[in-house]
Amino acid sequence: MAINKRVCRLSCYTILILMLLWSFFYAGSVIQWTPTKQPKVTQPQTYNTPNIHHLFANKSASDIIQSYFINKLLKDSDQSKMSAANKLLKQLFELVSENNNGTDVDITDDLVHIQGTGQLLDKQHAESDKAGEAIDTLQADVKDHKNEKATKIRVGIIVYMPYRSDQLYEMEFLSYMHPSWKYVTTHKTLKQFITLPEASNVPDMTLDLITYCHPKSCCTAQKANCKLWTKVTLDTDQSDCYYHPDDGFPEAAEYHYYNTFAFLRDDNFMSRAKKYDWLIRSDLDVFIGPAVLGWLPKYEFMSGGGGYASEFNRKRIPEVAARLNLTHHGITNVGSTWYGKPDIFMKISQLTLKYTKHFYKNEFNKTLDGIQHIMNKSSVGEWPTWWRPVSLLYGGEVAINHAVPDFDISRIADKKLDYPSSSKLNILSYPHLHCWHGDEEFQKFRFTTKLRALINGGTDNRTTIYKSDQDVKNMTVRDYCTFIAWNAVANNNIIEHLQKPADHCS
Ligand SMILES: *[C@@H]1O[C@H](CO)[C@@H](O)[C@H](O)[C@H]1NC(C)=O
Ligand SMILES: *[C@@H]1O[C@H](CO)[C@@H](O)[C@H](O)[C@H]1NC(C)=O
Ligand SMILES: *[C@@H]1O[C@H](CO)[C@@H](O)[C@H](O)[C@H]1NC(C)=O
Ligand SMILES: *[C@@H]1O[C@H](CO)[C@@H](O)[C@H](O)[C@H]1NC(C)=O
Ligand SMILES: *[C@@H]1O[C@H](CO)[C@@H](O)[C@H](O)[C@H]1NC(C)=O
Ligand SMILES: *[C@@H]1O[C@H](CO)[C@@H](O)[C@H](O)[C@H]1NC(C)=O
Ligand SMILES: *[C@@H]1O[C@H](CO)[C@@H](O)[C@H](O)[C@H]1NC(C)=O
Repeated sequence: MAINKRVCRLSCYTILILMLLWSFFYAGSVIQWTPTKQPKVTQPQTYNTPNIHHLFANKSASDIIQSYFINKLLKDSDQSKMSAANKLLKQLFELVSENNNGTDVDITDDLVHIQGTGQLLDKQHAESDKAGEAIDTLQADVKDHKNEKATKIRVGIIVYMPYRSDQLYEMEFLSYMHPSWKYVTTHKTLKQFITLPEASNVPDMTLDLITYCHPKSCCTAQKANCKLWTKVTLDTDQSDCYYHPDDGFPEAAEYHYYNTFAFLRDDNFMSRAKKYDWLIRSDLDVFIGPAVLGWLPKYEFMSGGGGYASEFNRKRIPEVAARLNLTHHGITNVGSTWYGKPDIFMKISQLTLKYTKHFYKNEFNKTLDGIQHIMNKSSVGEWPTWWRPVSLLYGGEVAINHAVPDFDISRIADKKLDYPSSSKLNILSYPHLHCWHGDEEFQKFRFTTKLRALINGGTDNRTTIYKSDQDVKNMTVRDYCTFIAWNAVANNNIIEHLQKPADHCS
């Protein structure tokens, strides 16, 4: 327990630093940090920064950033926290800059993904990091389960794989999401060992991975033996991986997160969705754990946790909802991983897309009352106060608060969905693990740096160490993630695939 606490403090701090780092880059001036549970606004500080290109072109960038944080942290009386923060900052800077080729589009992208794992910002969450706590169990009184003595259910995990020239998303798909899904569906006997109380009540699960992909990255789904989605009927109990090429929404040229709803562009999707008992909206930097076979949400719709709330947006988002005539139950930090019944899942998807567009297009206009002081700072506002790159999460919050009657905090399953990939707890309690941006393993930036080195002809003994199957039952979450990712590299010719041009399949 003592170790866990210490780890949390460092980890939470790491995330905080990255957040600050980001707002420092982007907004370049005022930084405000608001913890989720106990709102506390620090005094804004002003600092003139060079722009992001300058920073990344400049060899002394890490020194510049560090001197800034040292100045800021000097005000912190806790010396050990300060030196730990400085050390982590240096490492993180190296990791981030190695991995996104220095373009600010890529950096925004890497850092917005923090939001997918945003519950990590929530100290409450990390400190109560104890197996068995707040376990969501199946309730007999949920109407969908009441008369349902199903012995089999079908669950679909939906992801979108964008194309990025540095192949980041393809690396994630091939090393995290796909091999972990494959592992779980080919080791279903692990279900008997799952340490969740209601695991044995969950019917036998057929679990599909449904990948909507940018045409240039679909080659990677084909490489992973996924089948063309529209060519297959879903009548067997065989868990399978499917892909469907999609160019994405035209508006995604400007804001690419719209494409996480690419499935709404597929006319077939609705009828296919009805074949599923449950749908999961997920991400590529996610590992599925064997516990997915032994857990179902206790409500028709649940989400993971998010970490975007600020004192300001906690008030502002419900005000926007009221203007749009939407109900808002006051629940914030709603994550972007969802687990729901197809009908409500589709309804929420459509509403989220609609309101995401609304936020992105209309709610960051510097002429609007109440946000001028923020929009004065940068064209995208300021993290986490009011920040345009997370329009997707603001849209999700109003959609979900409106569409889910009685939406409350118990519908945020943050112990089950998006659990941190760095956890040292046993894998058999955690169905859905999300990579985070902390310094600890499993660290996705460190992994992709290694992968890039292999693509460029390097070697790594982990391709030998992790080549054979291992018993995951006693593994921690982090060891499981490490095993899955390296086992995939060792066995699936990922390196050879990624060395070829993106469209070599066509
Ligand atoms: C790097 O940044 C420092 C501080 O802003 C500046 O003095 C220096 O000229 C920069 N160097 C380059 C190569 O841009
Ligand atoms: C990284 O940036 C360099 C220089 O801007 C460019 O030539 C190269 O193609 C980029 N690599 C990737 C993978 O985007
Ligand atoms: C909200 O409701 C009011 C009163 O019914 C109506 O005048 C207004 O147009 C509605 N606004 C929106 C955005 O639907
Ligand atoms: C911002 O709002 C003003 C006033 O409603 C409008 O004229 C302008 O077109 C808006 N700007 C953008 C970029 O939408
Ligand atoms: C925003 O900036 C403009 C020009 O710099 C200034 O006139 C205005 O007072 C500022 N508005 C707010 C609300 O800070
Ligand atoms: C793998 O390589 C690392 C670093 O080169 C080394 O420390 C480690 O002992 C090696 N492990 C094995 C099992 O060879
Ligand atoms: C896993 O842990 C259980 C109990 O904690 C123990 O009985 C078992 O021997 C362990 N299995 C392995 C393979 O270490």
